[in-house]
Amino acid sequence: MINFTATTKKPNEISSDALVVFLRQEETAPEEKIVNALCGGQIQKLRQSKDFLGEPTKVRTLFNVPGCPRVLLVGLGKTAELTLEKLREAASIATQTLKSLPATSASIILPKIPKTTAEETAQAICESLSLACYEFNHYKTGKKDKPKIENIEIIVSQKEKREAEKGLAFARILAGAVITARDLGNHPSNIATPSHLAEHALRIGKERKNIKIKILHKPEIKKERMGGLLAVSKGSDEEPKFIILEYLPKKPARRGGGSFPTVVLAGKGITFDSGGISIKPADKMEEMKYDMAGAATVMATIKAASELKLPINLVGLIPATENLPSGKAIKPGDIITSRSGKTIEVVNTDAEGRLVLSDALDYAKKYNPTLVVDLATLTGAIMVALGDDIIGAFTNAEKYLGPLKTAAKTTGEKIWPMPLEKDYEQFIKSDFADLRNIGTTRYGDSVNAANFLKAFVDYPWIHLDIAGVAWATREKPYRPKGATGAGLRLMIEFLKKFKK
Ligand code: BES
Ligand code: ZN
Ligand code: ZN
Repeated sequence: MINFTATTKKPNEISSDALVVFLRQEETAPEEKIVNALCGGQIQKLRQSKDFLGEPTKVRTLFNVPGCPRVLLVGLGKTAELTLEKLREAASIATQTLKSLPATSASIILPKIPKTTAEETAQAICESLSLACYEFNHYKTGKKDKPKIENIEIIVSQKEKREAEKGLAFARILAGAVITARDLGNHPSNIATPSHLAEHALRIGKERKNIKIKILHKPEIKKERMGGLLAVSKGSDEEPKFIILEYLPKKPARRGGGSFPTVVLAGKGITFDSGGISIKPADKMEEMKYDMAGAATVMATIKAASELKLPINLVGLIPATENLPSGKAIKPGDIITSRSGKTIEVVNTDAEGRLVLSDALDYAKKYNPTLVVDLATLTGAIMVALGDDIIGAFTNAEKYLGPLKTAAKTTGEKIWPMPLEKDYEQFIKSDFADLRNIGTTRYGDSVNAANFLKAFVDYPWIHLDIAGVAWATREKPYRPKGATGAGLRLMIEFLKKFKK
């Protein structure tokens, strides 16, 4: 991880390999004047010749600046259009340039953004830089994971320093958690098995004394009658695991004693989804190692929440298994009994996420939750509906949608409300059991899947279908190809402000 600090040094006092200054399309920022003077009026000349006008995504590198090897001018665009996300995008582009240079350190002048605190601005820069530097080189021999950029200092005023330091500390934890979630998603399924996820949880429990871990192994899963998880795991030689993480902080007496609200996070943990007997086509099947992205996000969210000391009870529930075909695998038409007692006709073994989640959602009732949020790479159909950058959000508790949207706006993650259409409930009625795991029509599968989950829920609940966003096949700012760690910053921001 990069080492971030806040400093009150002046731009001409730094000893880093690069000075980074964000420029707007208007020449109004005071730091522009200072840096312009420092580099002998070069910025003014660039503006006059229209070579550089502070447009978003544009970067210019200046040399021949006394006392500084190079100055990076990074466009922020128009002040009126400036948001934290625009700043993250600009910081990400600055990172790409820094990575291409022989530079291991940089000093960044903290820009001012309307209606935004120094804490938020510093956090956004630190978050974006850390995530833009992410590379998954675990299996490349000869390539070190060590980041090329080692030290970043954020230049702030004396007044901003404490706030900026708070933002940096917050971002360090957030970025660390996103990176963990990305790593888990990028590891291949021969490494990231259900047992590997369980070991990861146990390691979190060792590191964080206030998180309790319970792992249910196959005998306990049987005892719990988790018929969905058991059915999906039947075709695999890897044992299923049901992973429980509990972060239950004590409410201090001075805050009224009693207890905090309890939010349960359930994460789909299919470590490889071949489809089972209803096998998927070979093309892109290798990507199905990320079908445990929900599980990864849940584990990393709970660890980050504990590090941030969020005043909330958080429980993580992760049904983890592979979905493989074999002589022992579940077959289309098989009827199983889920933990709730409801029977399910498994018409398609590739609709396995809803089977394992049905057990987790039923188990969640134990905690008398204020709210349950599940994160799942549940349906290909959500990608057809919303593409690869928007999370589909289904809920039976509309009042949480506003806060969730606000959180998404802050973190730059995108959600869109989807309907739990009552009229479609008929499509998941089975002729032979209580429910069938796919609809009788092939349309609207994201809604059918959500309606299926709804049948196991008797509390306020949000279902986030992250199938589109959890894996990137194209590069985006601060998000390279592969597992994205999507939903993590959104969840932390949502939980930070959570009210009953
Ligand atoms: N894990 C998949 C959903 C998925 C697809 C995630 C593509 C990420 C990218 C899920 O288990 C699945 O296979 N769903 C089926 C459901 C169908 C059989 C009704 C699908 O979406 O095709
Ligand atoms: Zn599947
Ligand atoms: Zn799946």
